[in-house]
Amino acid sequence: MNEVCFKNIDKKEPWSLSTYEASGGYSVWRKILKGELSPENIIDELKASGLRGRGGAGFPTGLKWSFMPRNSDIQKYVVCNSDEGEPGTCKDRDILRFNPHSVIEGMAIGGYVMKASVGYNYIRGEFMEPFYRFEAALKEAYKTGLLGKNISGSSVSFDLYTHLGAGAYICGEETALIESLEGKKGQPRFKPPFPANVGLYGKPTTVNNTESFASVPEILAKGGKWFHDLGVKNSGGCKLFSVTGHVKRPANFEVPMGIPFKDLLDMAGGIRDGRKLKAVIPGGSSTPVLTADEALAMNMDYDSIENAGSMLGAGSVIVMDDSTCMVKTLTRLAHFYYDESCGQCTPCREGTGWLYRILKRIMDGDGKSGDLDLLNNVGSNILGNTICALGDAAAMPVESFLRNFSEEFEYYIENGKSMVKDNV
Ligand SMILES: Cc1cc2nc3c(=O)[nH]c(=O)nc-3n(C[C@H](O)[C@H](O)[C@H](O)COP(=O)(O)O)c2cc1C
Repeated sequence: MNEVCFKNIDKKEPWSLSTYEASGGYSVWRKILKGELSPENIIDELKASGLRGRGGAGFPTGLKWSFMPRNSDIQKYVVCNSDEGEPGTCKDRDILRFNPHSVIEGMAIGGYVMKASVGYNYIRGEFMEPFYRFEAALKEAYKTGLLGKNISGSSVSFDLYTHLGAGAYICGEETALIESLEGKKGQPRFKPPFPANVGLYGKPTTVNNTESFASVPEILAKGGKWFHDLGVKNSGGCKLFSVTGHVKRPANFEVPMGIPFKDLLDMAGGIRDGRKLKAVIPGGSSTPVLTADEALAMNMDYDSIENAGSMLGAGSVIVMDDSTCMVKTLTRLAHFYYDESCGQCTPCREGTGWLYRILKRIMDGDGKSGDLDLLNNVGSNILGNTICALGDAAAMPVESFLRNFSEEFEYYIENGKSMVKDNV
């Protein structure tokens, strides 16, 4: 349907300022510069829209913006999280590539609402093309007089800078991102205090995901109710779902919240090579895996996915067909979290290593009868016991893979090989 972040995707040079402005881009920002929109109006519209943070946790954006101490004069910041490192997630890079001005306008609006005159877009280090596109858009915006100090003679100032990370998954966690922006090692901070009170350089800061910021201009142009009504209760609007894995046409799809998973799968061309659906991770690698039956019965919104036993997360749908060995898949995921743990908390630093080594041992044909209990035990000792949610992200897949596909793990331990004959 492509109504918001991908609105211009089929147009010529959708990333250019002229294409963006021709479809109404910067109209909200220009209204703000003319003094026609108050911060309170904007927060009310965002609340009415039902927009929930698209970075994974789903926290309501309007409410988050209202938490900033807007009326104090101290320096405040808005930060866009374009780190996008979760396996399966590949939407933010496409927003930066094809609609960078929506991120700039969304951040500028955020800056105005929260009285933050400076913003940073923290972009994952490997994203060279998205980085160049965003930088080029930023130059266009400055050249046209849309950013800077006392913009168009108004009292509104907003300066925006790009920062390239170095490709660490942990720097997507907002307080690790803030540490990294400050030039330090990217390790999460204890909360509270939350960034809205003590964030970048110790000042009030709001961090939002790229898709969250990019959705704001269109919501305000067409109204919170318009956006809300695209979706379903508790999951307003539309959302980008990255459908990857064993489908014929892996891609990002912008669709209304609440569409049946089956329809999304059809949009991605269905399962490749005439095979059967076996499993789905609906929200990115840190969310629990579902069986084919659970996935086929679910709709793509926060509540339905939760009722099915998983989470919407960042909307990263990883589809697996019946050639998939679940032992091998979980081992691969466990290696990712082991590799990406920042090492700050003992349960995560040691536990992710334990998870990976036990799974690797099973894969090597040396599994022991108590290994599945041990895996569950290590996972439950990580869950909820770390400073940030990377530990939970490592533990949650383990519990769900073992619960839903236990016979595959048992077979591997007994026979030293996969029960999936043609696994690739
Ligand atoms: C390990 C870890 C990695 C994360 N990676 C990202 C990321 O790449 N992008 C993102 O927007 N949020 C990521 N988050 C969530 C952020 O901490 C934060 O909740 C989000 O940026 C807030 O934006 P939102 O309210 O618009 O979703 C991550 C969280 C954790 C624990």
